[in-house]
Amino acid sequence: MEIETKAIETDLAECLETLFTFGRTKNNGVTRLLYSESWMQAQTQLAGWFAEYGLQVSYDDIGNLYGRLEGEDKDAPALITGSHIDTVVDGGKYDGAYGVVAAMLAVSELKKRYGQPKKPIEVVSLCEEEGSRFPLSFYGSGSMTGVYGEEVRERCDADGASIDEAMKSCGFGQGHYRSPETNDIDAFAELHIEQGSVLEQAAETIGLVTHIVGQRRMTVYVNGESNHAGTTPMHIRHDAMTTAADLIRGATDLAVQHKPDMVATVGQIKAHPNTVNVIAGEVAFTIDIRHYEEKVLNEYIEKLQSFCAEVAAENGVSVELDEWMSAKPVAMDPVLTSSAEKLLEQSGIPYRKMTSGAGHDAQIFGSAVPTALLFVPSVNGISHSPKEFTEITDLTAGVYMLMELIYDRAYAIEPATEGE
Ligand code: HGY
Ligand code: MN
Ligand code: MN
Repeated sequence: MEIETKAIETDLAECLETLFTFGRTKNNGVTRLLYSESWMQAQTQLAGWFAEYGLQVSYDDIGNLYGRLEGEDKDAPALITGSHIDTVVDGGKYDGAYGVVAAMLAVSELKKRYGQPKKPIEVVSLCEEEGSRFPLSFYGSGSMTGVYGEEVRERCDADGASIDEAMKSCGFGQGHYRSPETNDIDAFAELHIEQGSVLEQAAETIGLVTHIVGQRRMTVYVNGESNHAGTTPMHIRHDAMTTAADLIRGATDLAVQHKPDMVATVGQIKAHPNTVNVIAGEVAFTIDIRHYEEKVLNEYIEKLQSFCAEVAAENGVSVELDEWMSAKPVAMDPVLTSSAEKLLEQSGIPYRKMTSGAGHDAQIFGSAVPTALLFVPSVNGISHSPKEFTEITDLTAGVYMLMELIYDRAYAIEPATEGE
Protein backbone atom coordinates (compact mmCIF):
# COMPACT_ATOMS: atom_id res chain seq x y z
CA MET A 1 0.00 0.00 0.00
CA GLU A 2 1.63 3.26 -1.13
CA ILE A 3 0.74 6.34 0.98
CA GLU A 4 1.61 9.99 0.65
CA THR A 5 3.85 9.94 3.69
CA LYS A 6 4.46 13.70 3.39
CA ALA A 7 0.79 14.50 4.07
CA ILE A 8 0.64 12.06 7.01
CA GLU A 9 3.97 13.36 8.35
CA THR A 10 2.74 16.97 8.34
CA ASP A 11 -0.63 16.20 9.94
CA LEU A 12 1.00 13.93 12.53
CA ALA A 13 3.54 16.55 13.57
CA GLU A 14 0.91 19.32 13.70
CA CYS A 15 -1.60 17.29 15.71
CA LEU A 16 1.04 16.17 18.24
CA GLU A 17 2.26 19.76 18.65
CA THR A 18 -1.31 20.99 19.20
CA LEU A 19 -2.09 18.31 21.82
CA PHE A 20 1.25 19.15 23.48
CA THR A 21 -0.05 22.66 24.23
CA PHE A 22 -2.71 21.18 26.53
CA GLY A 23 -0.82 20.69 29.79
CA ARG A 24 2.62 21.82 28.62
CA THR A 25 4.96 22.41 31.60
CA LYS A 26 7.61 25.11 32.08
CA ASN A 27 10.42 22.70 31.19
CA ASN A 28 8.76 21.54 28.00
CA GLY A 29 7.16 18.40 29.36
CA VAL A 30 3.43 17.74 29.62
CA THR A 31 1.18 17.09 32.61
CA ARG A 32 -2.35 16.13 31.47
CA LEU A 33 -4.12 14.31 34.28
CA LEU A 34 -7.49 12.60 33.89
CA TYR A 35 -10.49 14.98 34.05
CA SER A 36 -8.21 18.00 34.40
CA GLU A 37 -8.87 21.08 32.27
CA SER A 38 -5.96 20.25 29.93
CA TRP A 39 -7.17 16.66 29.55
CA MET A 40 -10.69 17.85 28.64
CA GLN A 41 -9.24 20.41 26.20
CA ALA A 42 -7.26 17.63 24.50
CA GLN A 43 -10.32 15.32 24.30
CA THR A 44 -12.39 18.19 22.86
CA GLN A 45 -9.69 18.96 20.30
CA LEU A 46 -9.61 15.28 19.27
CA ALA A 47 -13.40 15.21 19.00
CA GLY A 48 -13.18 18.16 16.60
CA TRP A 49 -10.55 16.44 14.48
CA PHE A 50 -12.52 13.15 14.46
CA ALA A 51 -15.51 15.05 13.09
CA GLU A 52 -13.37 16.82 10.46
CA TYR A 53 -12.12 13.43 9.29
CA GLY A 54 -15.71 12.25 8.89
CA LEU A 55 -15.82 9.93 11.88
CA GLN A 56 -18.96 9.64 14.06
CA VAL A 57 -17.98 11.21 17.39
CA SER A 58 -19.23 9.95 20.76
CA TYR A 59 -18.21 9.69 24.41
CA ASP A 60 -19.07 6.97 26.88
CA ASP A 61 -20.09 7.80 30.42
CA ILE A 62 -16.59 7.80 31.91
CA GLY A 63 -15.15 10.02 29.15
CA ASN A 64 -13.57 7.57 26.67
CA LEU A 65 -13.80 9.31 23.28
CA TYR A 66 -14.70 7.39 20.09
CA GLY A 67 -14.48 8.23 16.38
CA ARG A 68 -16.43 5.59 14.42
CA LEU A 69 -16.10 4.73 10.75
CA GLU A 70 -19.20 2.71 9.95
CA GLY A 71 -18.77 -0.66 8.26
CA GLU A 72 -20.76 -2.22 5.44
CA ASP A 73 -21.94 -4.61 8.14
CA LYS A 74 -22.74 -2.01 10.79
CA ASP A 75 -23.77 -4.70 13.30
CA ALA A 76 -20.42 -6.49 13.15
CA PRO A 77 -18.10 -6.13 16.18
CA ALA A 78 -15.81 -3.14 15.65
CA LEU A 79 -12.06 -3.06 15.24
CA ILE A 80 -10.90 -0.65 17.97
CA THR A 81 -7.63 1.25 17.61
CA GLY A 82 -6.15 4.01 19.76
CA SER A 83 -4.43 4.73 23.05
CA HIS A 84 -4.54 7.36 25.85
CA ILE A 85 -3.94 11.11 26.19
CA ASP A 86 -3.52 11.25 29.96
CA THR A 87 0.15 11.57 30.92
CA VAL A 88 2.47 11.14 33.87
CA VAL A 89 3.53 14.33 35.67
CA ASP A 90 5.99 16.25 33.44
CA GLY A 91 5.98 13.48 30.84
CA GLY A 92 6.61 13.49 27.11
CA LYS A 93 4.43 14.50 24.18
CA TYR A 94 4.34 11.07 22.49
CA ASP A 95 3.37 8.57 25.22
CA GLY A 96 -0.24 7.69 24.39
CA ALA A 97 -1.07 10.77 22.31
CA TYR A 98 0.90 9.37 19.37
CA GLY A 99 -1.25 6.21 19.33
CA VAL A 100 -4.52 8.19 19.28
CA VAL A 101 -3.42 10.62 16.55
CA ALA A 102 -1.81 7.84 14.50
CA ALA A 103 -5.01 5.77 14.66
CA MET A 104 -7.06 8.79 13.56
CA LEU A 105 -4.76 9.51 10.60
CA ALA A 106 -4.50 5.83 9.60
CA VAL A 107 -8.29 5.39 9.57
CA SER A 108 -8.92 8.65 7.71
CA GLU A 109 -6.29 7.73 5.09
CA LEU A 110 -7.90 4.30 4.61
CA LYS A 111 -11.34 5.93 4.33
CA LYS A 112 -9.99 8.32 1.67
CA ARG A 113 -8.42 5.51 -0.35
CA TYR A 114 -10.77 2.57 0.14
CA GLY A 115 -14.06 4.03 1.38
CA GLN A 116 -16.18 2.02 3.75
CA PRO A 117 -14.62 -0.95 5.58
CA LYS A 118 -16.36 -4.31 5.74
CA LYS A 119 -16.62 -3.98 9.56
CA PRO A 120 -16.87 -0.86 11.75
CA ILE A 121 -13.62 0.74 12.95
CA GLU A 122 -13.48 2.89 16.10
CA VAL A 123 -10.62 5.24 16.94
CA VAL A 124 -10.51 5.59 20.73
CA SER A 125 -8.93 7.98 23.23
CA LEU A 126 -8.94 6.10 26.55
CA CYS A 127 -9.08 7.41 30.13
CA GLU A 128 -6.40 7.13 32.87
CA GLU A 129 -4.03 4.64 31.33
CA GLU A 130 -1.18 5.92 33.51
CA GLY A 131 -2.71 5.92 36.98
CA SER A 132 -0.96 9.27 37.54
CA ARG A 133 -3.90 10.99 39.21
CA PHE A 134 -6.03 8.19 40.66
CA PRO A 135 -4.85 4.91 42.27
CA LEU A 136 -5.82 2.72 39.32
CA SER A 137 -4.42 2.28 35.81
CA PHE A 138 -6.10 1.40 32.53
CA TYR A 139 -9.41 2.89 33.75
CA GLY A 140 -10.78 3.46 30.23
CA SER A 141 -9.84 0.08 28.73
CA GLY A 142 -10.67 -1.66 32.03
CA SER A 143 -14.16 -0.11 32.02
CA MET A 144 -14.77 -1.18 28.40
CA THR A 145 -13.75 -4.77 29.16
CA GLY A 146 -15.52 -5.11 32.52
CA VAL A 147 -12.35 -5.10 34.66
CA TYR A 148 -13.66 -2.00 36.45
CA GLY A 149 -17.24 -1.12 37.42
CA GLU A 150 -18.79 1.80 39.26
CA GLU A 151 -17.18 0.64 42.53
CA VAL A 152 -13.85 2.33 41.66
CA ARG A 153 -15.45 5.77 41.41
CA GLU A 154 -14.91 6.32 45.12
CA ARG A 155 -11.12 6.17 44.72
CA CYS A 156 -9.51 9.56 45.44
CA ASP A 157 -6.54 11.51 44.18
CA ALA A 158 -3.84 13.00 46.44
CA ASP A 159 -6.09 16.00 47.18
CA GLY A 160 -9.01 13.80 48.24
CA ALA A 161 -11.09 14.40 45.09
CA SER A 162 -12.87 11.20 44.04
CA ILE A 163 -13.09 9.89 40.48
CA ASP A 164 -16.84 10.41 40.77
CA GLU A 165 -16.51 14.13 41.60
CA ALA A 166 -13.80 14.70 38.99
CA MET A 167 -15.68 12.96 36.15
CA LYS A 168 -18.85 14.87 36.97
CA SER A 169 -16.90 18.15 36.74
CA CYS A 170 -16.35 17.20 33.06
CA GLY A 171 -20.01 16.25 32.50
CA PHE A 172 -19.45 12.49 32.72
CA GLY A 173 -20.68 9.94 35.24
CA GLN A 174 -24.29 11.12 35.16
CA GLY A 175 -25.75 8.71 32.62
CA HIS A 176 -25.78 11.28 29.77
CA TYR A 177 -23.61 8.91 27.66
CA ARG A 178 -23.65 5.18 27.05
CA SER A 179 -22.02 2.77 29.44
CA PRO A 180 -18.35 2.07 28.62
CA GLU A 181 -18.75 -1.69 28.92
CA THR A 182 -18.98 -3.49 25.60
CA ASN A 183 -18.36 -6.97 24.25
CA ASP A 184 -18.84 -5.78 20.71
CA ILE A 185 -15.12 -5.66 19.94
CA ASP A 186 -13.60 -7.59 17.05
CA ALA A 187 -9.98 -6.76 17.96
CA PHE A 188 -7.81 -4.00 19.40
CA ALA A 189 -4.67 -2.52 17.79
CA GLU A 190 -2.38 -0.02 19.52
CA LEU A 191 0.60 1.92 18.21
CA HIS A 192 2.94 3.32 20.88
CA ILE A 193 6.48 4.60 21.37
CA GLU A 194 8.74 1.84 22.76
CA GLN A 195 9.83 3.88 25.81
CA GLY A 196 13.05 1.85 25.88
CA SER A 197 16.14 1.64 23.69
CA VAL A 198 15.95 -1.84 22.13
CA LEU A 199 14.80 -0.68 18.67
CA GLU A 200 17.14 2.29 18.55
CA GLN A 201 20.18 0.17 19.49
CA ALA A 202 19.26 -2.43 16.87
CA ALA A 203 18.51 0.31 14.29
CA GLU A 204 15.05 -1.17 13.71
CA THR A 205 11.90 0.85 13.01
CA ILE A 206 9.03 -1.30 14.26
CA GLY A 207 8.64 -3.43 17.39
CA LEU A 208 6.05 -6.20 17.08
CA VAL A 209 5.10 -6.92 20.69
CA THR A 210 4.47 -10.57 21.58
CA HIS A 211 4.04 -10.14 25.38
CA ILE A 212 3.44 -7.32 27.85
CA VAL A 213 4.88 -7.68 31.35
CA GLY A 214 2.67 -8.09 34.39
CA GLN A 215 2.56 -5.24 36.89
CA ARG A 216 1.79 -4.80 40.59
CA ARG A 217 1.54 -1.37 42.20
CA MET A 218 1.32 -0.89 45.94
CA THR A 219 1.77 1.69 48.69
CA VAL A 220 3.93 0.78 51.70
CA TYR A 221 2.77 2.51 54.91
CA VAL A 222 5.38 2.84 57.68
CA ASN A 223 4.03 3.90 61.07
CA GLY A 224 6.57 4.86 63.75
CA GLU A 225 6.46 7.68 66.30
CA SER A 226 6.93 11.39 65.75
CA ASN A 227 9.26 12.90 68.30
CA HIS A 228 11.67 15.75 68.99
CA ALA A 229 14.74 15.77 66.70
CA GLY A 230 16.96 17.19 69.42
CA THR A 231 15.96 15.48 72.62
CA THR A 232 15.25 11.91 71.43
CA PRO A 233 18.33 9.64 71.70
CA MET A 234 18.96 7.58 68.54
CA HIS A 235 18.55 4.17 70.24
CA ILE A 236 14.98 4.81 71.43
CA ARG A 237 13.54 6.23 68.21
CA HIS A 238 10.75 4.67 66.13
CA ASP A 239 11.78 6.51 63.03
CA ALA A 240 9.51 5.95 60.01
CA MET A 241 11.96 7.75 57.65
CA THR A 242 15.04 5.61 58.34
CA THR A 243 12.84 2.52 58.24
CA ALA A 244 11.47 3.56 54.84
CA ALA A 245 15.05 4.09 53.65
CA ASP A 246 15.95 0.52 54.71
CA LEU A 247 12.81 -0.83 52.99
CA ILE A 248 13.34 1.09 49.74
CA ARG A 249 16.94 -0.02 49.44
CA GLY A 250 15.99 -3.59 50.37
CA ALA A 251 13.00 -3.81 47.99
CA THR A 252 15.06 -2.67 44.99
CA ASP A 253 18.04 -4.90 45.91
CA LEU A 254 15.60 -7.81 46.24
CA ALA A 255 14.38 -7.20 42.66
CA VAL A 256 17.95 -7.31 41.32
CA GLN A 257 18.73 -10.51 43.24
CA HIS A 258 15.37 -12.14 42.39
CA LYS A 259 15.45 -12.30 38.61
CA PRO A 260 17.47 -10.53 35.91
CA ASP A 261 14.36 -9.10 34.14
CA MET A 262 12.61 -8.04 37.36
CA VAL A 263 12.14 -4.29 37.87
CA ALA A 264 10.96 -2.52 41.03
CA THR A 265 10.61 1.26 41.26
CA VAL A 266 9.88 3.53 44.21
CA GLY A 267 8.57 6.63 42.47
CA GLN A 268 6.59 8.47 45.10
CA ILE A 269 7.16 9.14 48.83
CA LYS A 270 5.31 11.17 51.46
CA ALA A 271 6.30 11.82 55.07
CA HIS A 272 4.35 13.13 58.04
CA PRO A 273 4.72 15.62 59.58
CA ASN A 274 7.45 16.30 56.96
CA THR A 275 9.15 18.84 59.19
CA VAL A 276 12.88 19.43 59.53
CA ASN A 277 13.10 19.11 63.32
CA VAL A 278 10.62 16.27 63.84
CA ILE A 279 11.33 12.54 63.61
CA ALA A 280 8.94 11.28 60.93
CA GLY A 281 6.07 9.32 62.48
CA GLU A 282 4.59 8.18 59.16
CA VAL A 283 6.01 7.53 55.70
CA ALA A 284 4.14 6.19 52.67
CA PHE A 285 5.89 5.22 49.45
CA THR A 286 4.81 3.46 46.25
CA ILE A 287 6.41 0.43 44.59
CA ASP A 288 5.86 -0.42 40.91
CA ILE A 289 6.89 -4.06 40.27
CA ARG A 290 7.09 -5.76 36.85
CA HIS A 291 8.01 -9.06 35.26
CA TYR A 292 6.73 -11.13 32.34
CA GLU A 293 5.92 -14.15 34.56
CA GLU A 294 3.06 -14.07 37.12
CA LYS A 295 4.84 -16.71 39.25
CA VAL A 296 7.96 -14.53 39.56
CA LEU A 297 5.86 -11.52 40.59
CA ASN A 298 4.12 -13.61 43.28
CA GLU A 299 7.43 -14.97 44.60
CA TYR A 300 8.93 -11.48 44.79
CA ILE A 301 5.94 -10.13 46.71
CA GLU A 302 6.12 -13.00 49.21
CA LYS A 303 9.81 -12.23 49.82
CA LEU A 304 9.03 -8.51 50.10
CA GLN A 305 6.33 -9.16 52.71
CA SER A 306 8.67 -11.16 54.97
CA PHE A 307 11.48 -8.60 54.47
CA CYS A 308 9.13 -5.78 55.54
CA ALA A 309 7.98 -7.72 58.62
CA GLU A 310 11.62 -8.27 59.64
CA VAL A 311 12.61 -4.60 59.26
CA ALA A 312 9.44 -3.48 61.06
CA ALA A 313 10.32 -5.65 64.07
CA GLU A 314 13.95 -4.45 64.12
CA ASN A 315 12.90 -0.78 64.00
CA GLY A 316 9.94 -1.04 66.38
CA VAL A 317 7.48 0.29 63.80
CA SER A 318 4.54 -1.16 61.87
CA VAL A 319 4.67 -1.68 58.09
CA GLU A 320 1.64 -2.36 55.91
CA LEU A 321 1.62 -3.17 52.16
CA ASP A 322 -1.49 -2.01 50.27
CA GLU A 323 -1.62 -3.42 46.72
CA TRP A 324 -3.99 -1.34 44.58
CA MET A 325 -3.16 -2.42 41.05
CA SER A 326 -2.44 -5.80 39.53
CA ALA A 327 -2.21 -6.45 35.77
CA LYS A 328 -1.34 -9.92 34.50
CA PRO A 329 1.39 -10.54 31.94
CA VAL A 330 -0.47 -10.86 28.63
CA ALA A 331 0.42 -12.44 25.29
CA MET A 332 -0.61 -10.51 22.18
CA ASP A 333 -2.84 -12.37 19.71
CA PRO A 334 -0.72 -14.81 17.66
CA VAL A 335 -2.99 -14.56 14.57
CA LEU A 336 -2.91 -10.74 14.52
CA THR A 337 0.79 -10.73 15.31
CA SER A 338 1.61 -13.16 12.51
CA SER A 339 -0.43 -11.16 9.98
CA ALA A 340 1.39 -8.04 11.15
CA GLU A 341 4.67 -9.91 10.71
CA LYS A 342 3.73 -10.90 7.15
CA LEU A 343 2.93 -7.25 6.36
CA LEU A 344 6.24 -6.18 7.86
CA GLU A 345 8.15 -8.75 5.82
CA GLN A 346 6.42 -7.49 2.63
CA SER A 347 7.11 -3.86 3.53
CA GLY A 348 10.83 -4.41 4.09
CA ILE A 349 10.69 -2.17 7.16
CA PRO A 350 13.31 -3.35 9.71
CA TYR A 351 11.48 -4.80 12.72
CA ARG A 352 11.81 -7.20 15.62
CA LYS A 353 9.44 -9.16 17.84
CA MET A 354 9.79 -8.11 21.46
CA THR A 355 8.35 -7.97 24.97
CA SER A 356 6.98 -4.73 26.37
CA GLY A 357 8.39 -3.63 29.74
CA ALA A 358 5.84 -0.80 29.76
CA GLY A 359 2.19 -1.36 30.54
CA HIS A 360 -0.42 -0.48 27.90
CA ASP A 361 -4.15 -0.54 27.34
CA ALA A 362 -3.31 -3.39 24.96
CA GLN A 363 -2.64 -5.60 27.98
CA ILE A 364 -6.17 -5.06 29.25
CA PHE A 365 -7.79 -5.62 25.86
CA GLY A 366 -5.38 -8.53 25.30
CA SER A 367 -7.06 -10.54 28.05
CA ALA A 368 -10.46 -10.08 26.38
CA VAL A 369 -10.09 -9.79 22.57
CA PRO A 370 -7.44 -10.42 19.87
CA THR A 371 -4.93 -7.60 20.36
CA ALA A 372 -1.82 -6.28 18.59
CA LEU A 373 0.71 -3.74 19.86
CA LEU A 374 3.29 -2.06 17.62
CA PHE A 375 6.22 0.11 18.75
CA VAL A 376 8.34 2.78 17.14
CA PRO A 377 11.77 3.71 18.55
CA SER A 378 12.35 6.16 21.43
CA VAL A 379 15.50 8.29 21.02
CA ASN A 380 17.98 7.34 23.79
CA GLY A 381 15.23 5.08 25.17
CA ILE A 382 13.87 8.00 27.22
CA SER A 383 10.18 8.29 28.16
CA HIS A 384 8.03 9.68 30.97
CA SER A 385 10.25 12.72 30.63
CA PRO A 386 10.30 16.06 28.72
CA LYS A 387 13.22 14.54 26.80
CA GLU A 388 10.93 11.91 25.23
CA PHE A 389 11.45 12.04 21.44
CA THR A 390 10.83 9.95 18.31
CA GLU A 391 11.87 10.88 14.75
CA ILE A 392 8.95 11.89 12.52
CA THR A 393 10.06 9.36 9.90
CA ASP A 394 9.69 6.57 12.49
CA LEU A 395 6.35 7.96 13.70
CA THR A 396 5.11 7.96 10.09
CA ALA A 397 6.36 4.42 9.45
CA GLY A 398 4.27 3.39 12.46
CA VAL A 399 1.16 4.97 10.92
CA TYR A 400 1.87 3.12 7.69
CA MET A 401 2.13 -0.22 9.52
CA LEU A 402 -1.04 0.47 11.51
CA MET A 403 -2.84 1.22 8.23
CA GLU A 404 -1.69 -2.11 6.82
CA LEU A 405 -2.91 -3.95 9.93
CA ILE A 406 -6.30 -2.20 9.93
CA TYR A 407 -6.71 -2.72 6.17
CA ASP A 408 -5.94 -6.41 6.57
CA ARG A 409 -8.43 -6.80 9.44
CA ALA A 410 -11.30 -4.55 8.34
CA TYR A 411 -11.15 -4.19 4.55
CA ALA A 412 -9.43 -7.19 3.03
CA ILE A 413 -11.63 -9.78 4.72
CA GLU A 414 -13.69 -12.15 2.59
CA PRO A 415 -17.42 -11.89 3.42
CA ALA A 416 -18.41 -14.81 5.65
CA THR A 417 -19.88 -17.59 3.49
CA GLU A 418 -23.34 -18.95 4.34
CA GLY A 419 -23.37 -21.00 7.53
CA GLU A 420 -19.81 -19.95 8.50
O1 HGY B 1 3.79 2.77 33.36
C1 HGY B 1 3.72 2.33 32.23
O2 HGY B 1 4.30 1.31 31.94
C2 HGY B 1 2.90 2.99 31.18
O3 HGY B 1 3.61 4.09 30.66
N1 HGY B 1 1.63 3.40 31.69
MN1 MN C 1 1.44 4.92 27.36
MN1 MN D 1 3.21 6.03 30.16
